[in-house]
Amino acid sequence: MSNLNTLVPRWRELCEASRQVRSKAWAPYSKYHVGAAILTDCGQIISGCNVENASYGLTICAERVAACSAVAQGLKKFVAVSVSLTGIPVPCGACRQFLNEFNPEVIIIFDDVTAADDAIPEFMRLSELLPRAFRLEHEGM
Ligand code: THU
Repeated sequence: MSNLNTLVPRWRELCEASRQVRSKAWAPYSKYHVGAAILTDCGQIISGCNVENASYGLTICAERVAACSAVAQGLKKFVAVSVSLTGIPVPCGACRQFLNEFNPEVIIIFDDVTAADDAIPEFMRLSELLPRAFRLEHEGM
């Protein structure tokens, strides 16, 4: 795949947004704070953090919070998503499926907040992370 600067010229700004929102995570159980930021085709950046719950299964990942927030603002064309956390920030399977709904070719940027300041994050298209994704035909809205 080509260079991240070419594909997503605003990737630094996107990662900055996912890092910032990460500080808002509600994660008293796992203590694992995650931030996600979505760049839309109209240039807007919409972010979200993980929100945990005492009933563990109700927890919502940062990527899905960001996606729901974007959709609620009428933004459904996702160009890139940055995910910020400590370690290897790949979206979970549920979030891959959720993002696939809006753009199977969206670029996912793996922003490890512990990486060196001048490090360029890894990135991948969602279709590489979720090949042969489940889809239903629809007429759009
Ligand atoms: N988490 C995310 O926010 N995104 C992912 O893709 C994987 C996991 C959150 C959910 C939970 O609050 C914490 O990380 C530990 O699983």
